[in-house]
Amino acid sequence: MRKFMTTTAIALAMMAGAAQAAENVEVLHWWTSGGEAAALDVLKKDLESKGISWTDMPVAGGGGTEAMTVLRARVTAGNAPTAVQMLGFDIIDWAKEGALGNLDEVASKEGWDKVVPTALQQFSKYDGHWIAAPVNVHSTNWMWINKAALDKAGGKEPQNWEELVALLDNFKAQGIMPVAHGGQPWQDATIFDAVVLSLGNDFYKAAFIDLDPAALGGDKMKEAFDRMTKLRSYVDDNFSGRDWNLASAMVIEDKAGVQFMGDWAKGEFLKAGKKPGTDFVCMRFPGTQGSVTFNSDQFAMFKVSDDKVPAQMAMASAIESPTFQSAFNVVKGSVPARTDVPDTDFDDCGKKGIKDLAEANANGSLYGSMAHGHANPASVKNAIYDVVTRQFNGELSSEEAVTELVAAVEGAK
Ligand code: GAL
Repeated sequence: MRKFMTTTAIALAMMAGAAQAAENVEVLHWWTSGGEAAALDVLKKDLESKGISWTDMPVAGGGGTEAMTVLRARVTAGNAPTAVQMLGFDIIDWAKEGALGNLDEVASKEGWDKVVPTALQQFSKYDGHWIAAPVNVHSTNWMWINKAALDKAGGKEPQNWEELVALLDNFKAQGIMPVAHGGQPWQDATIFDAVVLSLGNDFYKAAFIDLDPAALGGDKMKEAFDRMTKLRSYVDDNFSGRDWNLASAMVIEDKAGVQFMGDWAKGEFLKAGKKPGTDFVCMRFPGTQGSVTFNSDQFAMFKVSDDKVPAQMAMASAIESPTFQSAFNVVKGSVPARTDVPDTDFDDCGKKGIKDLAEANANGSLYGSMAHGHANPASVKNAIYDVVTRQFNGELSSEEAVTELVAAVEGAK
């Protein structure tokens, strides 16, 4: 009897081991900050509960620039990860290269067509086939204000550029750093998304979606750069190269008044135990309420050997489950990538994010984020980054920047 049990136990253990070996995903991602890691953990645990083990391939660097470089090297070496966190046009670029697998079976079984917003499907599908599983919708035109500092300034949320400048001056007078910022090209570009949007929906669309030289090189763009120069005057001397989550920490720790950042910043506030409305205030960048510049993290599934495909399908299915979409996005700061997930578990900022997204979608004021790869392919995005960063760092005047912007975009198109 004892011998029988032991043999059975061994057999079971071997079967479990085999199942586990088959059901493994290696995931390349850049979710390494405290808030991001907490959200990633929701995904890891969800997959583990379904018998899918996780091999972690983190590549630090906000916005994913470094992750994309590592990915290129891995694919070139013939060793693609199973699943890769990816943004917008990058997904399409890889699909064009024929590197991605096909998720049609699970997508049609689960009816993704009906519940994933069309704005996301644009990047989750290529040539009519599902190639990626969207996990969230973030947006970039947000600001995160230290509530105590705002209260000291009178408590009114700034509704336009002039009121924003007045608030930043007030923070300065209070003796705290007005703007927490990390000088990295993608962070400069994230602010630029919001600044350009604040000068009008049509302007954002003409400049970043249509790449219209008249918009890229015109007076409004010069004004956008002037506003960047003004914002630059409110950051501290050590901003260069600072990671975005360290900038969030400055607002969290009462060292700075505001951070202009996508709603992944909320993940940092929550991780630090801070409460929206009590410790911090979330609002749209002044002048952009009603419009949304979005980006969506998706897991692109690479072509891998047949034995790894079931795990990819299981991961894709787990990601699209409404329960998971709620649990994950509540922690991440983003909103669900499906339209049928209740907002019940979300805090006020999350509820606002869900409502804003639905309204912008209905009103035609939802645009892909330039800074986060949802307006143009990486070649164009990087060309814009370069000009924005040089101007922000005082290497180019606003006049020079508009001229360079037109040329850089033309060259990269
Ligand atoms: C964005 C991404 C977010 C967050 C952020 C900072 O591009 O969509 O999920 O990770 O970068 O790393």
